[in-house]
Amino acid sequence: MEIHAPIPALRHALQGRGRIAFVPTMGNLHEGHLTLMRQARQHADTVVASIFVNRLQFGPGEDFDKYPRTFEADCAKLQEAGVDVLFAPSESDLYPEPQNFFVEPPDLQHLLEGAFRPGHFRGVATVVLKLFNCVQPQAALFGKKDYQQLMLIRAMARQLALPMDIVGVDTVRAEDGLALSSRNGYLSPAERQEAPRLIRTLEHLREQLLRQGISAREALEQEAAASLDKHGWKTDYVAVRQQSDLHPPRDMDQKLVIVAAARLGHTRLIDNLEV
Ligand code: PAF
Repeated sequence: MEIHAPIPALRHALQGRGRIAFVPTMGNLHEGHLTLMRQARQHADTVVASIFVNRLQFGPGEDFDKYPRTFEADCAKLQEAGVDVLFAPSESDLYPEPQNFFVEPPDLQHLLEGAFRPGHFRGVATVVLKLFNCVQPQAALFGKKDYQQLMLIRAMARQLALPMDIVGVDTVRAEDGLALSSRNGYLSPAERQEAPRLIRTLEHLREQLLRQGISAREALEQEAAASLDKHGWKTDYVAVRQQSDLHPPRDMDQKLVIVAAARLGHTRLIDNLEV
């Protein structure tokens, strides 16, 4: 695997490589990321990954400084997963001057995750567009665990006519159902045991929703949040939304998704379940 930075060196290295599939990451890679890398191979001649912990998408008081940086181990995993090129820019490679131009996403950025992490999706959209400009892929792959992020990136690619496919890949889970996430590493052993309750709660909500219908939606959301809180979680939201725009549904005729975010100790976990 070749490792490149700064941007001109990467561009030079990617000339004449055929179709490129790209997987942007912030490192601390787990099986979820590696699944994206392996699937990327089906979309291209050359698979490019990036590792960059993007300051712009972290709010004040979030975990930018303590976000795990495990570069050597990540490189070994990427190599093993068959990645051809790793783009590993430093902060001054990607942001050589203060970044004053931003991608301003639509109102969707203020819902759900956005309500609890103001500015997060603006930071994500800005760095993703910049990474796309560096790599110029024909396909880019993102995990469905970050459901709202995937929706915003799809909308950005559509509305800005980016010449690439945005591919969403199913969430990879541990045997007990916990969605794999770099932040799972923050969990204590006891919290790790408790953590699968999040997806189990969403599964229970889905079952009840299908049984009781849309009129029970709000009561079921509140019940799910209360049941997490009873077990020591601090729930930010559990919400049944339309897959199309993440707004509350009026009926069961459209495709739905249940999204949730909750804190276990100091760790904030998110997950979702399509209905
Ligand atoms: O999902 C992530 O890891 C990040 O939000 C991304 C897409 C790499 C942008 O920094």
